[in-house]
Amino acid sequence: MIMKPFLSLFIIGLISLGACNAEKPSPSVNEELTESKQESLGELKLVNGKAVYEANCAGCHDSGVAGAPKPGDHSAWSQRITQGLPIMIKKSIEGFEGKTGMMPPKGGNASLGDSDISNAIAYMVRTLQ
Ligand code: HEC
Repeated sequence: MIMKPFLSLFIIGLISLGACNAEKPSPSVNEELTESKQESLGELKLVNGKAVYEANCAGCHDSGVAGAPKPGDHSAWSQRITQGLPIMIKKSIEGFEGKTGMMPPKGGNASLGDSDISNAIAYMVRTLQ
């Protein structure tokens, strides 16, 4: 599943992001996305990742429900990141049962693309800096 071409998934993700935002209107995110097209792909992914995170992951990860690692929680993420980012992404796409709780596949939103998940994780891990 991870082997699928990331770029096309990323584009599909961007298209479906529009649909996601209908539920939670945030015109500023769309503006940022347009502006970011001129910038690096890395920045664009983080902008997408932040939007995906806020719409789909923050419900558990902001408050740390059932031990969900919070963005910026250095010790929680540094333990998990030792297994490698690709494994963390795969587990988050497929869902997993950990020591403290259940992480649902794609955070419970099956319409998210694989790249939405990896972007959201990049956003969460990046907030460590
Ligand atoms: C229903 C609550 C819930 C939602 C929504 C949720 N998560 Fe989680 N997530 C968890 C829990 C609980 C854990 C920790 C499980 C454990 O290790 O016991 C976790 C762990 C993780 C981990 C660590 C994986 C690892 O290998 O250690 C990542 C990455 C992650 N979530 C990403 C996401 C992303 C991305 C989203 C949104 C698309 C999301 N989660 C939405 C509950 C949630």
